[in-house]
Amino acid sequence: MEANPICLGLLFLIFSSTMAAISNAKTHYHDFVIQATPVKRLCKTHSTITVNGMYPGPTLEVNNGDTLVINVVNRARYNATIHWHGVRQMRTGWADGPEFVTQCPIRPGGSYTYRFTIQGQEGTLWWHAHSSWLRATVYGALIIRPKEGDSYPFPKPRRETPLLLGEWWDANPIDVVRQATRTGAAPNVSDAYTINGQPGDLYNCSSKDTIIVPVDSGETNLLRIINSGLNQQLFFTVANHKLTVVGADASYVKPFTTTVLMLGPGQTTDVLITADQLPARYYIAARAYASAQGAPFDNTTTTAILDYKSAPCPAKDVSVKPVMPNLPAFNDTATATAFSKSFRSPRKALVPTEIDENLFFTVGLGLNNCPIGSSPANCQGPNGTRFTASMNNVSFVLPSSFSLLQAHQQGIPGVFTTDFPGVPPVKFDYTGNVSQSLQQPVPGTKVYKLKYGARVQLVIQGTSIFTAENHPIHLHGYDFYIIAEGFGNFDPNKDTAKFNLVDPPLRNTASVPVGGWSVIRFVADNPGVWLMHCHLDVHITWGLAMAFIVENGVGELETLELPPADLPLC
Ligand SMILES: *[C@@H]1O[C@H](CO)[C@@H](O)[C@H](O)[C@H]1NC(C)=O
Ligand SMILES: *[C@@H]1O[C@H](CO)[C@@H](O)[C@H](O)[C@H]1NC(C)=O
Ligand SMILES: *[C@@H]1O[C@H](CO)[C@@H](O)[C@H](O)[C@H]1NC(C)=O
Ligand SMILES: *[C@@H]1O[C@H](CO)[C@@H](O)[C@H](O)[C@H]1NC(C)=O
Ligand SMILES: *[C@@H]1O[C@H](CO)[C@@H](O)[C@H](O)[C@H]1NC(C)=O
Ligand SMILES: *[C@@H]1O[C@H](CO)[C@@H](O)[C@H](O)[C@H]1NC(C)=O
Ligand SMILES: *[C@@H]1O[C@H](CO)[C@@H](O)[C@H](O)[C@H]1NC(C)=O
Ligand SMILES: *[C@@H]1O[C@H](CO)[C@@H](O)[C@H](O)[C@H]1NC(C)=O
Repeated sequence: MEANPICLGLLFLIFSSTMAAISNAKTHYHDFVIQATPVKRLCKTHSTITVNGMYPGPTLEVNNGDTLVINVVNRARYNATIHWHGVRQMRTGWADGPEFVTQCPIRPGGSYTYRFTIQGQEGTLWWHAHSSWLRATVYGALIIRPKEGDSYPFPKPRRETPLLLGEWWDANPIDVVRQATRTGAAPNVSDAYTINGQPGDLYNCSSKDTIIVPVDSGETNLLRIINSGLNQQLFFTVANHKLTVVGADASYVKPFTTTVLMLGPGQTTDVLITADQLPARYYIAARAYASAQGAPFDNTTTTAILDYKSAPCPAKDVSVKPVMPNLPAFNDTATATAFSKSFRSPRKALVPTEIDENLFFTVGLGLNNCPIGSSPANCQGPNGTRFTASMNNVSFVLPSSFSLLQAHQQGIPGVFTTDFPGVPPVKFDYTGNVSQSLQQPVPGTKVYKLKYGARVQLVIQGTSIFTAENHPIHLHGYDFYIIAEGFGNFDPNKDTAKFNLVDPPLRNTASVPVGGWSVIRFVADNPGVWLMHCHLDVHITWGLAMAFIVENGVGELETLELPPADLPLC
């Protein structure tokens, strides 16, 4: 056999990983500098907020059990924080990141070091800013491989490729959200979707920078797909190729094969793809799943190119367009539902069967009537209203002088109240024609308290106030089992029979069906303050959020750690 340098490289890799298997988990140190960087897209250069000048930001690669120490320096002109999306943060809530929830913002010129350990999670997560709309451009992948010496529960892929789906505004995203907050109207939709920061060659001025994903005939690769978009659920597909889903939100799933994925913002999906087609170039494409009837959305399509390296020269000819896949219709809820119903845990799951807290939260939009005398310029929502949103009729308001976690841990009064309702204060036909008297939620900084170890069931019920819509509901600090989902109003007499208590999927973000509900279960085994919110940033801006306080249990291992010395204060 010839001394092929690739094979030598592989031998070295095998050798070094064998050596590492006997060593302990590692600690990875990184510096993240948040800074304005010129970024040119769609023919125009913007002063874009990035990490280390990179858009998307750096990919973090770790093994399960490793510790991350990331020193974040804020050289931008905005307050900033970083959230490690999906990381459980056992006892390290101070490192979770949502501004005014677990920390005050890192102010311009300031810095903060996030320290946390990955415990029992494998697959794909990501990190993003959790302050205003900075995450439009401040985000990156977090790849968690099995512990050194352990292997994937599927054949080792030849290559691995993270694909971050994003949204690009031909504007400053912070200006876009500020304009909406001022006018009360819906914010401008994005101008392009992106794959690893590039819109792809269906957009103007984007052909040269289209992302190329190389493959060799016959090989199987792992694509780690992340919806890092701000406000839009996305369908994802690859022309002529099947996708075998093996993981989501850093938990493995029972493998299933599909041609199209649907990811809500916040969700990740790991798929195996085998290069078993004629050697050529195939488009990888994503576009909106827009479930809200009549609401404006970005209807463009982003592409990358799956490029067979062994393709004969004519197929390499870049004047020949790659093969384009069919994408589902924008409103194809049947495809989105079939996809989300395919998820199972790989084996019998540890779903709590006894329940201590039986919760029911409505989630959806609202319309505030403008106070008499207000300027029409500030009342540009439907019929002269202002958009709002709520859970159980509470429109969440962030505190401003202390973070919730600091107020909780230090017993500072007056920052929040603990009267977040466990069930809707008013029962109504949630998914019917909701009367106008029910459309104005009450602003508040309310939390729901859970005892350490409480076994929680939560029905998340979408409403059709203004419009029904699919909501990606994300819980910080936890993974939860999604034991059922359906359309219409949840009916305990009928729908309990649909619960999957055997092998439901474990996730950190649930796509609550449009005009429907999801039921989740988890055990409150991580003390701290944990935000739960819609991951459409436009909705969190309007108040579609709440927070759980999980009390300490007994002894050190059930107690929140002390705050780090450099925790930013307000
Ligand atoms: C939003 O879109 C409108 C209409 O195209 C435009 O006039 C406005 O400048 C945009 N706002 C921002 C902040 O880019
Ligand atoms: C590309 O630019 C042309 C000319 O400016 C414009 O008409 C067209 O709408 C643009 N296409 C996209 C996808 O932005
Ligand atoms: C996208 O929306 C624009 C404006 O609303 C419309 O002109 C265009 O036909 C739509 N494109 C697609 C692919 O639906
Ligand atoms: C989806 O949109 C098409 C037109 O774009 C419409 O004919 C169809 O009724 C819609 N389907 C649903 C389920 O809303
Ligand atoms: C706006 O007002 C019109 C006329 O009164 C009404 O038909 C429509 O339902 C209203 N829309 C909303 C979103 O309230
Ligand atoms: C919804 O209810 C309002 C009055 O409560 C009525 O005016 C309106 O026509 C109803 N809309 C539909 C679509 O049934
Ligand atoms: C929300 O609370 C307000 C004020 O108490 C009330 O008028 C409204 O009916 C409530 N709406 C719902 C959906 O509970
Ligand atoms: C930045 O954070 C500080 C608290 O640390 C807060 O007082 C200030 O209002 C924030 N600025 C903006 C623009 O949100």
